[in-house]
Amino acid sequence: MSRVLTVSGLHLAAGARALVQGVSLSLRRGQVLAMLGRSGGGKSLTTLALLDLLPAGVSRLGGEVSLDGMVLDRAGQAALRGATLGYVQQAPRAGFNPLVSIGRHFEETLAREGLRGGAARRRMLELLRDVGFEAPDSVPRLYPSQLSGGMLQRAMIALTLCRNPAFLLADEPTTDLDLVVQAQILDLLDRLVAERGIGLLLVTHDLSVVARLADEVAVMEDGTIVEQQPVRSFFDTPRHPRSRALLAAHRALYES
Ligand SMILES: Nc1ncnc2c1ncn2[C@@H]1O[C@H](COP(=O)(O)OP(=O)(O)OP(=O)(O)O)[C@@H](O)[C@H]1O
Ligand SMILES: [Mg+2]
Repeated sequence: MSRVLTVSGLHLAAGARALVQGVSLSLRRGQVLAMLGRSGGGKSLTTLALLDLLPAGVSRLGGEVSLDGMVLDRAGQAALRGATLGYVQQAPRAGFNPLVSIGRHFEETLAREGLRGGAARRRMLELLRDVGFEAPDSVPRLYPSQLSGGMLQRAMIALTLCRNPAFLLADEPTTDLDLVVQAQILDLLDRLVAERGIGLLLVTHDLSVVARLADEVAVMEDGTIVEQQPVRSFFDTPRHPRSRALLAAHRALYES
């Protein structure tokens, strides 16, 4: 299985406006890379560039994405999407077709892995159980509107796991959820990294999440990475003023 996903020298722009400039990152199997930084810093666009799913109007002017040192062309990136590279977004509802049952979503995804019929059903139920549905049998017949946000995010993660991705890109996966459910989803992601050796890119605004899950931290500001450190040294000796400000705000909130 693939070991390391790298983007180097990424430049993104909308017309003449540079949005991301010279971003380089490596995501390793079994590790969590947390990406932090002010709103509009370019975290989501960087994530989307890894998937070759940039929004209309944003183009990649430079940079290479590689897997285990092999540079990928666009077809190579498209082939990775879903299979090697899973994507978990902030609003899980947007990832489901509202008119299609949860079970059908799984059938379609598992068919891409060559699983159909009873084998597909067993795998679906196993994955639903693995992400925390205690009665997975009841889930497939439901429609997205019948699941809460937290249940949908679990279902989205299970759907992503159908294809055994080596890496997961999670862009603020818990922002829309209440605190208890946030903690459950983070536990789940943490467990997937530990048990399946998934490499997780986790975009978050929450430093307690970083402290809990991350091995490495990258801080983005105005389209560049202003700091990248192992998590321990990031908390002990943040270098960039933005990192210090983030840590000061965090400590004021939690240590008062
Ligand atoms: N489709 C688009 N067309 C033009 N500019 C865009 C587009 N999408 C994003 N941008 C701009 O690119 C910059 C980076 O956006 P991005 O969404 O990556 O930020 P972010 O770090 O994810 O922010 P947040 O923390 O708010 O999610 C912002 O200035 C944003 O306005
Ligand atoms: Mg974003």
